[in-house]
Amino acid sequence: MSTRRTFMQKLAVLGTSAFTANTLLQELHAAHLEDAYKLLDAGNPESDARNEAFWTFFQQAYTVNPNLINLNNGGVSPAPKVVQEALQRYNDLANQAPSYYMWRVIEMNREPLRYKLAQLAGCSTEEIAINRNTTESLNTVIFGLPLQKGDEVIGTLQDYPNMIQAWRQRQMRDGIVYKQISFDFPIEDDETIVQQFAEAMTPKTKVVHITHIVNWVGQILPVKKIADMAHSRGAEVIIDGAHSFGLLNFKIPDLGGDYYGTSLHKFLSAPIGNGLLWIKKEKIGKIWPLLCNDKPQSDDIRKFETLGTRSFCIEQATGEAINFHEAIGSQRKEDRIRYLKNYWAEKAAQIPKVKLHTSLKAPYSCAIAGVSIDGLKPEELDSKLFNKFKIHAVGINWENIHCVRVTPHVYTRTQDLDKLVYALEQIAAGKA
Ligand SMILES: Cc1ncc(COP(=O)(O)O)c(C=O)c1O
Repeated sequence: MSTRRTFMQKLAVLGTSAFTANTLLQELHAAHLEDAYKLLDAGNPESDARNEAFWTFFQQAYTVNPNLINLNNGGVSPAPKVVQEALQRYNDLANQAPSYYMWRVIEMNREPLRYKLAQLAGCSTEEIAINRNTTESLNTVIFGLPLQKGDEVIGTLQDYPNMIQAWRQRQMRDGIVYKQISFDFPIEDDETIVQQFAEAMTPKTKVVHITHIVNWVGQILPVKKIADMAHSRGAEVIIDGAHSFGLLNFKIPDLGGDYYGTSLHKFLSAPIGNGLLWIKKEKIGKIWPLLCNDKPQSDDIRKFETLGTRSFCIEQATGEAINFHEAIGSQRKEDRIRYLKNYWAEKAAQIPKVKLHTSLKAPYSCAIAGVSIDGLKPEELDSKLFNKFKIHAVGINWENIHCVRVTPHVYTRTQDLDKLVYALEQIAAGKA
């Protein structure tokens, strides 16, 4: 409090003309942040995760509709106000003379952004391509890998449709063999999962495709163990990290894969339409770009960024999302979002007729959880939650998974999750 007061007093003395609007906002933000940090109980992550006073600061940093409870952050997440403002600043600049400001000014900041992303990802800047989303990242790898007719790829029925379709298209076009194994989630045993991948592999298996966090129910797969097993048998590993980057505290190379794609508009809260592709340095040369340039066989990761005209403003505002993320801290954010998931899910599990489709144990889930009520189809539960309680989640009917997916984010309030639990109680009791 005192920091903010001192800062405001200083402002009164100096007069605001000494500051640009942007400096003002950032200094105010920093002063608030300092206040927020004083609320933390150093060295006690569990109490920090449930420290509502601290998290209120980050809740207020978003501009979400206070009357609609958005629990579909797994689909796409909002950006905090500082990120929206950064985007607005870049847009204002670009619109003064788009070809000049976009290509001669704003684009020049891609390398510093690559550095920030690489720092967060724990890898070299030479392994990071900046693009629009996970679909683009992984389609680049799926269609860019030199594979021969008869080569096998192992995935799962629970992978993301865009990737399944990409592999099926390669199967149709090039005669590769795409095999999908299937899991009954939740599973709380790494070996069962690794074993199932291992059993599907043959000497012809060239690629294992792993979804780090399964979008339908939030199951976290033991990526490193699967990757080590796959490598020991000579296959390469592609990781779909759509939901893991900016949510779990890890470094991309530590996952043990060869290729990793993610969307920055999910848990990192970057503007919508930002993605990242990581490729192990020695593998870059052999991947053909999806959108081509003059050096398709180069080992420069930038060969994947010839995407044509697009908004560099959206891309640049990602730098502000990284600052916001780092102000929270990766581990603190993961702990908080897992706490929020368990906050509602543990209560929901006690309600008669309510079933959870996701583990409550830390290694197997974070943020995303599936829930169903006996006798109700997912789309019926989804509609009741929205129509009667203004809770926006998403009904899932995919292969063997039938539930409503609920995904809080750092801005989610526990009061909103209390309302979700109340809504589930009412619906399960036939009162809503
Ligand atoms: C596991 C998974 N992979 C890939 C994607 C695709 O992400 P995007 O639409 O940002 O490309 C999603 C989207 O939700 C996803 O859940």
